[in-house]
Amino acid sequence: MKIANTHYEGIWLDTNRKLWVIDQRLLPFEFKTLEIKTLDEAVFAIKEMIVRGAPLIGVTAAYGMYLATLESLDSLKIAAQKLKDSRPTAVDLAKTVDRILQKVSASNTSISDLVLAEAETIKNETLDQCKKIGEHGLKLIEDIYNTNGHKTVNILTHCNAGWLATVDYGTATSPIYLAHEKGIPIHVWVDETRPRNQGAALTTYELGQEEIPHTLIADNTGGHLMQHKLVDLIIVGTDRTTRKGDVANKIGTYLKALAAFDNQIPFYVAAPSSSIDFSICNGLKEIPIEERDENEVKYMKGLSAEGIQEILICPENTNAVNYGFDVTPARLISGLITERGICKANEKSILSLFPEYA
Ligand code: MRU
Repeated sequence: MKIANTHYEGIWLDTNRKLWVIDQRLLPFEFKTLEIKTLDEAVFAIKEMIVRGAPLIGVTAAYGMYLATLESLDSLKIAAQKLKDSRPTAVDLAKTVDRILQKVSASNTSISDLVLAEAETIKNETLDQCKKIGEHGLKLIEDIYNTNGHKTVNILTHCNAGWLATVDYGTATSPIYLAHEKGIPIHVWVDETRPRNQGAALTTYELGQEEIPHTLIADNTGGHLMQHKLVDLIIVGTDRTTRKGDVANKIGTYLKALAAFDNQIPFYVAAPSSSIDFSICNGLKEIPIEERDENEVKYMKGLSAEGIQEILICPENTNAVNYGFDVTPARLISGLITERGICKANEKSILSLFPEYA
């Protein structure tokens, strides 16, 4: 997607095999690319959310494994564990790391080349999944447009499940970009998404660069908009979806799903298979929920005349708790938009698209 009319991806290797990412901590105020040179730098980038979003974390971890092969580590398993420990909820990370370990153990060719090739494959698969999610999700938007008298389609999204969270296109945003390209009038309600404000800082930035009409809202506004019929469709991303269709996504997603259910508004999850954990059934019991530093709740980051700054928003000694994700039960979800089509959020329907996991 575009930044100031130049095409970027969320992560890329340059012609000298150097790995680059966009430092998402500085957006939307400063655009800076960052070279990731070592395994530890890859771990740091994931932990500190220089890169973020389930698919991008997965691809970064894959390249992190490649960087590890260039270092004198006793075993790639140590690298794999370091990466897995960096963020626990998004399953893409663990899946890509395990996939690379498996590939390495089954081969005796040069490890670096092999791991790099697999990382490139994972990146291309991510790209492809996001593109196809756009094509399938577009049909939902077209249906609404064709039944609402060709009026603007109002879509609400939470957090950032855009191209910055993937490699390109995004997941939740992919159908939106495609609909916009096709000339369907779209307006996006963007949840600010406290505490890290991925909606306010990143989704607005992306949509602005692509000239898609959007409005930033405080996290608590969605329910009111839904009651007043100002939302036609909700599309969010996922960090881990169980084989029965429960979805862990950025904290606050569950509350939007409850409000959508109460107001009969379609609530869809853009779910690439990379984010589906076919080994678990019960999201509430089995998905580890990341707890992050309480200071992310107690402080807010923004731009002042002195530059990018963090300010305290409560008495300094206040206790705070910072759960990164929540679980939306399958019963509140209208459907999952996957790269193989749209299915219901239940085991039978998911497995009808992914029979290899039956
Ligand atoms: O903590 P983050 O910013 O990594 O969380 C991101 C989300 O929750 C996204 O909605 C999810 O990863 C899907 S990204 C396509």
